[in-house]
Amino acid sequence: MPTDKGSIKEYNKNFKEWLNKKGLAHSHLEKPAMYSLLGNVRGKTILCLGCGAGEECAYIKSLGAKKVIGVDISKGLIKLAKRNFPDIEFKVMDMEKLKFAKSSFDLIYSSLVLHYVKNWVRVFNEVKKVLKKNGVFLFSTHHPAYSSALKKIKGNEKLQILGYKRNNKTKKIEVYGDYLRDRKISEIWFKNFKVTYYYKSFSSIMKDILKSNFKITDCIEPRPLNSAKRIDLVFWEKFSKLPSFLIFKLQK
Ligand SMILES: C[S@@+](CC[C@H](N)C(=O)[O-])C[C@H]1O[C@@H](n2cnc3c(N)ncnc32)[C@H](O)[C@@H]1O
Repeated sequence: MPTDKGSIKEYNKNFKEWLNKKGLAHSHLEKPAMYSLLGNVRGKTILCLGCGAGEECAYIKSLGAKKVIGVDISKGLIKLAKRNFPDIEFKVMDMEKLKFAKSSFDLIYSSLVLHYVKNWVRVFNEVKKVLKKNGVFLFSTHHPAYSSALKKIKGNEKLQILGYKRNNKTKKIEVYGDYLRDRKISEIWFKNFKVTYYYKSFSSIMKDILKSNFKITDCIEPRPLNSAKRIDLVFWEKFSKLPSFLIFKLQK
């Protein structure tokens, strides 16, 4: 049984809104970090899982890849990707059921998609099947320390805390956030974009990777580019100190 596709309807319905609001977290933090781990893609055959509107496929193609195929479960985003980048092949496809021949790709790239699926091992197994021997799977996801923090608007303040407060008189504590419990999280992003994703602690992510028998060749917690400082100092200060994304490079 495929897992619950929590946010797919929302990506179909609100993709234009999401595309407009991705902002600095993508352009000055997560994407540069992902691209820095691509290695030499010249002459390679590459699959982009959860390609959205296709920008990443176009960038990877521009680096000299022989062939790039983008797949996404959202019909709306694939339609847009085909319109934006007519020279690249795009398909509507669920990454839990990849319809490609065995050993088709040198590299599989997936940015900020895995957390929409409950069963990561199923995706890892699909990826492994269609990767060539020694092929690479590069993926990013939300950092668990960021996702598990309590998020609250209190008057003029926005709180995002993972920790606790103790009253020294009563000895009572108030715990903020919940790091250790894997769960489904629903949030509203950008005022009206309802998103549901599957939260996993670091050890749960590691266990899924170990179950799939991939070799971990790199793991990074990216920081923003220095150029983000001039555009949005608050963003730069926040994400130079706090984890936001987690990136793994795996090898078959
Ligand atoms: C946060 S967006 C990332 C898009 C793009 N990689 C980027 O970073 O700009 C997540 C994407 O994953 C897609 N997605 C979610 N579940 C999927 C699944 N099971 N199979 C394929 N794509 C999926 C969504 O439709 C959406 O385009």
